[in-house]
Amino acid sequence: MKPFDVYPVNNIVIEKALGSHVWDDQGNQYLDLYGGHAVISIGHTHPHYVKRLTDQLNKVGFYSNSVKMPLQEQLAALLGKVSGKEDYHLFLCNSGAEANENALKLASFYNGRKKVIAFRKSFHGRTSLAVAATDNPNIVAPVNQTDNVVFLPWEDEAALEAAFKEYEVSSVIIEGIQGVGGINVASESFLRKIRSLCDQYNAVFIADAIQCGYGRSGKFYSHDYAGVNADIYTMAKGIGNGFPLGAISIAPKFKAVHGMLGTTFGGNHLACAAALAVLEVMEEEKLIDNAAKIGGYLIEQLKNFKEVLEVRGRGLMIGIQLPESLAHVKKDLLMKHRIFTGEAKPNVIRLLPSLALTKEHADQFLEAFSKEVK
Ligand SMILES: Cc1ncc(COP(=O)(O)O)c(C=O)c1O
Repeated sequence: MKPFDVYPVNNIVIEKALGSHVWDDQGNQYLDLYGGHAVISIGHTHPHYVKRLTDQLNKVGFYSNSVKMPLQEQLAALLGKVSGKEDYHLFLCNSGAEANENALKLASFYNGRKKVIAFRKSFHGRTSLAVAATDNPNIVAPVNQTDNVVFLPWEDEAALEAAFKEYEVSSVIIEGIQGVGGINVASESFLRKIRSLCDQYNAVFIADAIQCGYGRSGKFYSHDYAGVNADIYTMAKGIGNGFPLGAISIAPKFKAVHGMLGTTFGGNHLACAAALAVLEVMEEEKLIDNAAKIGGYLIEQLKNFKEVLEVRGRGLMIGIQLPESLAHVKKDLLMKHRIFTGEAKPNVIRLLPSLALTKEHADQFLEAFSKEVK
């Protein structure tokens, strides 16, 4: 048997990783500004993370949600504190798509409605309703197609108001900063508009914080810049620093009923230990502040390059829009300078490094970038 060939891959085998670096099987060192797609939040193989997971594995790695889980309660309390939503409740699952699937489902249970509003260029995952709310027909299978999702233009307040009048809206789902869509920051006024329309029509505001959340933007949720609360926040990626884990943070107005949501693996002992280790390191090393500081520095410096068409993003979620003539830069950064970056089509370099990135690493990237664009 061979792996099902669905991923275009770089011809690199990673054998070792530490902090913001990885090493291949030839011993070459790479600077990692991609973090395995925004997953590595506190840095690779952080000693506290490794110890907490190892200690937990030596005690109990897994048991299902049929027994009491003090670790889940500890995680909920710490996440409530760090995210500033202490009166919210936590439901744990295993991936981002699953987090969005559960959020959309919970919204529909809550108000008994079916219509979901999503936005152009959105990416919410590949499970049935999450993919139906994703604006990419190539990954929507016929069985996922549904009239329950309406796509609206990004940032179009009039279209949003009209949709609320036309449909019985169950929920509005929006990334605070679109990732796959090319690093597009939702304006504070647009997020506030969603909040007020959801309040007016008793619809549910779902903040997809899977890529832009968990401190990456310089605030815990990038949606927090708008100064309003969403009803449900969905998380994955950075929450486990590589341990597969998803979560939703649920406003107090939702009433839990036994059996309404559920999963076998979600919230197991090892997953909770991973998520606790991440939050402990984030607090101890003040990584949200670091993301704001180093990200702000990078954005400012990148704006000085006249070859760059636009720099978008917040904190350590940065999109560098390049002209077609510089489409080769991402590959050159990897092959010539051994720097991993992400991309979004067309011609956007996406920086999604660990939140512990240092100024020296940022400068190393800027120097290599400067050589390639000039
Ligand atoms: C904004 C957003 N939502 C949802 C997902 C889906 O997450 P997962 O791949 O863990 O299912 C992603 C993944 O890239 C994402 O960027």
